[in-house]
Amino acid sequence: MTDLVISRALVIDGSGAPGFVGSVTVTGDRIEAVLREGEPEPAAARRTEAGGLVLAPGFIDVHQHSDLSPFTEPGMDSYLRQGVTTCVVGNCGSSAFPVEGVDELAALAGARSSELGRPWRSFGEYLERIQACRPAMNLAALVGHGTLRQAVLRGDQRRAPAAEEMATMRRLLADALDEGALGLSTGLIYAPGLHATTEEIVELASVLARRGGVYASHVRGEDERVFDAVDECIEIGRRAGVPAHVSHLKVEGRAMWGRAGALLELLDARREAGDDVSADQYPYTAWETGLAALLPSWVAAEELPEVLADPAARERLEREIDEGGSGAEGVGRTLGWDRVMLGSFPPRPELSGRSLAELAAERGVPPARLVVELLLADRFAGMLGHGMDEEDVRTILARPDVYVASDGIAVSPQGPLGGYAVHPRYYGTFARVLGRYVREEGLLPLETAIRKMTALPAERFGLAGRGRIEPGASADLVLFDPRTVADRARYERPHAFAEGVRLVLVNGRVAFDGEPRERAGRALRRGER
Ligand code: ZN
Ligand code: CU
Repeated sequence: MTDLVISRALVIDGSGAPGFVGSVTVTGDRIEAVLREGEPEPAAARRTEAGGLVLAPGFIDVHQHSDLSPFTEPGMDSYLRQGVTTCVVGNCGSSAFPVEGVDELAALAGARSSELGRPWRSFGEYLERIQACRPAMNLAALVGHGTLRQAVLRGDQRRAPAAEEMATMRRLLADALDEGALGLSTGLIYAPGLHATTEEIVELASVLARRGGVYASHVRGEDERVFDAVDECIEIGRRAGVPAHVSHLKVEGRAMWGRAGALLELLDARREAGDDVSADQYPYTAWETGLAALLPSWVAAEELPEVLADPAARERLEREIDEGGSGAEGVGRTLGWDRVMLGSFPPRPELSGRSLAELAAERGVPPARLVVELLLADRFAGMLGHGMDEEDVRTILARPDVYVASDGIAVSPQGPLGGYAVHPRYYGTFARVLGRYVREEGLLPLETAIRKMTALPAERFGLAGRGRIEPGASADLVLFDPRTVADRARYERPHAFAEGVRLVLVNGRVAFDGEPRERAGRALRRGER
């Protein structure tokens, strides 16, 4: 017998086609049938009257940093309540495999690596451990180039890898791909990724060509450097013979405001010339990252004590943090310290959310020195920067081919990050697109927005059988009210769940129906049905 019928919904199937009134039946973990209005419904163990609410494929978020969240927040509430049923982690060059990546990722999740139990030795084992946590949503992962480099090159990370080190990196990546990794990611503004040449990444990414997989990049700069940086990403894809994906597409810093259209033209021109490139975006005007991203390439957070012992080096360091140089963006110059807020900061949680300009003035030190002091106290300290212009966000969001992705971490108000000023995108990304930009502003049609959250990213990232409502597809579904769906998380009060989502199914199980229910998420392997 059929397990569940969701009856008389406005079905928006992910393909971009217009919605229609119909019913969807589920048996086991699959969609059994999609019935048009008037077609007879089968007898079922459970029936939900949708009453005109929208039924869509569960949302697929291809850019998260929830790599270890299943250990700390298996309920993954901030996403589940937006209707997200699958996340992709391992982004921006950092992944939980190789295991050397876990210190940083554990800090991001508000945990310690010692709480995770014994270390894993393979990508497959990482996925098994995720599965054993019984997360509320599905999780798939990329392998981070920065983590591979850190694992193989050990201490000396500014140099290029030697031939045998490159061979080891390639082998680790190949093994992970064989065990289900979706591809390779880079974070080229972060150490150690920023020390890699284009050549090095091409050599590594070419491992994807034969096995399949996507190359996803946090490009080498999103400010004045963004045109060159996006071009480098596309060049890497072309030379390695693999699909290239630009993560969190944006133009950042005052001088760049108004340039989003020009950046999209660059993507179009490259596509017309035959390059295979895609992109995702989060719908906010602030970015969030680690404070350590402000450091120039010649100093890593661990090296700060040494550098500070030399007054000349210290002076240069503070100047470059403020004005830019040696790969540092120079947020003081490009944006202004009043627009940069301290994010998670375990040594003094009460400072979280305050601007660096204000904190520096209070202490009577220049902002760049404050940055150094904060990093000495916690090298994983976070920050938010109000660096983008709303018009640019809208220009990119209106594009039917740029995916919606959050760049966030699964959290909850009661969880380990509940006390920090995290980015509201953790709670609001998908609901914000549907509520604010589709319903309130009419920036794009609902069907287009849903396609950007489902079928498009699923196809690109090799998530077979997901992202569409069709017979045989995995029964990941979200039922929401298009009249009320909205994000409630704000910068000043980020820990607020989205509204308007009524029912979420993950692998055919009821995961949310106003309350969190069964945790039925799986660790997904590339191409696996
Ligand atoms: Zn990133
Ligand atoms: Cu990221």
